[in-house]
Amino acid sequence: MESAGAKGGDGAPKHYPGKMTVFVFLACLVASSGGLIFGYDIGISGGVTSMDTFLTKFFPSVYAKEKEVVETNQYCKFDSEPLTLFTSSLYLAALISSLFASVITRKCGRKMTMLGGGLIFLIGAILNGAATNVAMLIIGRILLGIGVGFSNQAVPLYLSEMAPAKMRGMLNISFQLMITVGILFANLINYFTDKISGGWGWRVSLGLAAVPAVIMTVGSVFLPDTPNSLLARGKEEEARARLQRIRGTNDVGPEYDDLVAASEATKAIENPWKTLLERRYRPQLVMSVLIPTLQQLTGINVVMFYAPVLFKTIGFGATASLMSAVITGLVNMVATFVSIATVDRLGRRKLLLQGGVQMIIAQFVLGTLIAIKFGTAGVANISRSYAIVVVLCICVFVSAFAWSWGPLGWLVPSEIFPLEIRSAAQSVVVVFNMAFTFIIAQIFLVMLCHLKFGLFFFFGAMEVIMTVFVYFFLPETKGIPIEEMERIWGEHWYWSRFVGAGRNRVMQMTSTNFQVLILKMNSILSFPFEVGVWWSCKQMIIFSLFHLD
Ligand code: BGC
Repeated sequence: MESAGAKGGDGAPKHYPGKMTVFVFLACLVASSGGLIFGYDIGISGGVTSMDTFLTKFFPSVYAKEKEVVETNQYCKFDSEPLTLFTSSLYLAALISSLFASVITRKCGRKMTMLGGGLIFLIGAILNGAATNVAMLIIGRILLGIGVGFSNQAVPLYLSEMAPAKMRGMLNISFQLMITVGILFANLINYFTDKISGGWGWRVSLGLAAVPAVIMTVGSVFLPDTPNSLLARGKEEEARARLQRIRGTNDVGPEYDDLVAASEATKAIENPWKTLLERRYRPQLVMSVLIPTLQQLTGINVVMFYAPVLFKTIGFGATASLMSAVITGLVNMVATFVSIATVDRLGRRKLLLQGGVQMIIAQFVLGTLIAIKFGTAGVANISRSYAIVVVLCICVFVSAFAWSWGPLGWLVPSEIFPLEIRSAAQSVVVVFNMAFTFIIAQIFLVMLCHLKFGLFFFFGAMEVIMTVFVYFFLPETKGIPIEEMERIWGEHWYWSRFVGAGRNRVMQMTSTNFQVLILKMNSILSFPFEVGVWWSCKQMIIFSLFHLD
């Protein structure tokens, strides 16, 4: 299977020889288990915080409020600061740790970062399972967060660097697939542990996070590092041999040369963070901030964290709530396969646009359904059939996310950064993803209490914005080799003004216009020739100051 590529220097499509090898497949399978630990965390906290035995032990005031009669405002009954802190502390820790992880990823390689992340996560899982007070719970969550920060920083990069261009989308999405598997497992485990009499079911739920942690830790001991990362650390021979091994051919010359060129460019850079702020990297910087931010503003984690709480809010019983969370988890996982099957054929844009429109429709219908029943008072008893329609709507929303913004929110950023800024930029992605995950986890219950059904319209409006953003500003990245990606910005109607060819074109066009203008001025004002030259130079300097780095 040949891997297709972008255009070569003469504009012709560039091909790197090579195929998808078993070696790459296995390496990616192990690496994407990093997604498992992330997914397990996302799914587990919602179910645990809806378990009575967990609430009575750690958050008795929330439990008391929950048990109040149905006439209380349903929108507000789970609004509790310590409860949200339990869910969201993990994401704050992940945010901070991913900044450190970027240095480790660059200096010690992707593999070491994953190994470290797995170990720290393991300690967090043990602490959580054994917790006897809120402090142990929160410290455990923080350690889990550090593990997630490490793995989310390194795994998407690892996958994109290992994969041949033609299958990069599919392989990278295995990370997202594992996230959804983790969420589904967590939901299923909550469903069963809730039934454990004796009140220690939540310990099993939290402690079982150790399983994905062990898979990732042990797996990453055996993982090979990527050729890109080896080169960046000066191991040329090893990098070439590794590239030959993962591509399944000795004929890796052109790809190796491109990797070397990218690596040389990287070495010339002392501070990747400062470099990322340079004008020529503006498109990448904007994408690294906006893609994860917008991914979170879809409101997906309202469903993922709080589905059982949300279902209880609209009147489901405890078991039905956990069951519904299992259903949404299943839809989330199955729909990810749609993305895997189509992303390298249809491309990224089509999936994002279709998914965006479907999410908008689902959110507005959901908001309307809840508004009709609960109004602003938040008091209602809903029928079984009405509840089923609500769950269906949530499934339509979740499936759209699962084949669009879910996987692509990680894939697209990981493939658009040139090597010299890749680690730093990926950290920006993780930081913004975690920051907005944290914010949503932290304020959702408060927002639900105040915005009521309007919350769903708020997320719907965000989805309109992100769909328009994709339409106008996101170029297609399908099939383009990762070290060739820079060209897409130069060819884009908007981003071209910031980068190489496009910027030169703007300069050339503008300087030609200036020359014409100067000639005209000269003839109108009858400047002597020297004055005309002086005036035009001055204008060019002013122009350069405003348009160049
Ligand atoms: C997001 C998570 C989300 C998950 C749902 C991921 O891509 O980053 O925040 O919970 O998808 O499957």
